[in-house]
Amino acid sequence: MNAMTPARDIRFWDRISEKYAKKPVPDEAVYQEKLRITRSFLPPEAQILEVGCGTGTTAVAHAPYAAHVHATDLSPEMIRIAEGRAREAGVTNVTFEALGVEALEGAPERYDAILALSLLHLVADRGAVLKKLDSMLKPGGVLITSTACLTGALRIFGLIAPIGRALGYLPLLRTFSPDQLTREIEGLGLKTEHRWLPGNGHTLFLVSRKAGGPG
Ligand SMILES: C[S@@+](CC[C@H](N)C(=O)[O-])C[C@H]1O[C@@H](n2cnc3c(N)ncnc32)[C@H](O)[C@@H]1O
Repeated sequence: MNAMTPARDIRFWDRISEKYAKKPVPDEAVYQEKLRITRSFLPPEAQILEVGCGTGTTAVAHAPYAAHVHATDLSPEMIRIAEGRAREAGVTNVTFEALGVEALEGAPERYDAILALSLLHLVADRGAVLKKLDSMLKPGGVLITSTACLTGALRIFGLIAPIGRALGYLPLLRTFSPDQLTREIEGLGLKTEHRWLPGNGHTLFLVSRKAGGPG
């Protein structure tokens, strides 16, 4: 249930879901590299959680490399499209759930890898979300994030977003720098194992490992 998320945010993502599904990834080579790097951090029989999975492309792509993927998203319409994609691909080890990350109540230390791709700039309380995701990681597990970090002149989006959101044209949007996000994640005790700012340098791809685990 999504009681913790304002209805207008659910409506926004529901409304753009069909368009989002048709939109190609901005840079196919960068996307493929992110998939490759992610897989290099997956143990055999990985239990994966993806939050903000959108139309399910990444969850379906990783499914053959995992024991199970639990893929969640705030928007029931995004999830409906994602379920269709999984069916078409013949993938049976992905469970989709329409649920805001704020309402997720995952068991502690359950997942080998948690993916939050193009999500952390869209949540109101990033600190609480990061803490929750960390609690659901197994010792030695990895948090993999890809986040729009709007700095410099792009901070203007943070100023206009509340107006656009009130009118229903923009989602909730937070601005922060790549270094700030890295510090927040490391502040939870996770160790950065891969840090990449491809292309225009505004999207931070991070692989961060929780202490402990085998070896
Ligand atoms: C920019 S899209 C990214 C989708 C996908 N991760 C990708 O990389 O293509 C952001 C997604 O996050 C979802 N979302 C926004 N706020 C959320 C929240 N608080 N909890 C969970 N999902 C959320 C939206 O419904 C949307 O599907």
